[in-house]
Amino acid sequence: MTGAFITLEGGDGSGKSTQAALLGDWLEAQGRTVVRTREPGGTALGVEIRRLVQHTEGHVAPRAEALLYAADRAHHVATLVRPALERGEVVVQDRYLDSSVAYQGAGRELDGQQIRDLSLWAADGLLPHLTLLLDIEPAAGRARMAARADAVYDRLEETGLDFAERVRAAYLGLAQAEPERFAVVDASGTPDEVHASVVSHVRAMLEAR
Ligand code: TYD
Repeated sequence: MTGAFITLEGGDGSGKSTQAALLGDWLEAQGRTVVRTREPGGTALGVEIRRLVQHTEGHVAPRAEALLYAADRAHHVATLVRPALERGEVVVQDRYLDSSVAYQGAGRELDGQQIRDLSLWAADGLLPHLTLLLDIEPAAGRARMAARADAVYDRLEETGLDFAERVRAAYLGLAQAEPERFAVVDASGTPDEVHASVVSHVRAMLEAR
């Protein structure tokens, strides 16, 4: 496998989509072929799974939710991510298995290690070469979302700030446990400032490979 697999992680309002777009443009300017994708919903099947998991009326059992994200991941990795990496391309992906550990684990009902094992099984062991954790205070992320004033904010309103704090703590714990894969980026700055930091980490990763 000759390509590079870069994932962006972070809480709501951390700016992942903006940074993924800026990073994709930067990589293309460096002459790389880039595949930009996301989970859940990076494939046609994934769009269906995303709809199921995010819009099902009422409560989804935590294990069912974890399995739906894992099913999305299994299909996405097998049909889109791995083939792109085998072609030598750079995959820039919004969310991956760390989202499962941070979000499904933060619900307190499931064990983080089991969720990680499930995800790794689903992905047949594929780990990113670099995971950019866009770290921001949940209240600040939330203020950004509110400023955007779109439907996503309504969904967020339903989950408390304490959930967002647990997600953040889980992410920082993951980054600490795997410092060679993670780069923690302060996401509180302007898009250009955050992009500069992202590029420095990506450049270092690409040069080291
Ligand atoms: P989305 O609308 O894609 O927003 P964004 O990624 O910009 O926050 O929402 C994705 C949601 O899915 C987000 O709240 C986190 C959640 N999620 C999980 O709970 N587990 C997972 O494994 C993944 C990939 C996402």
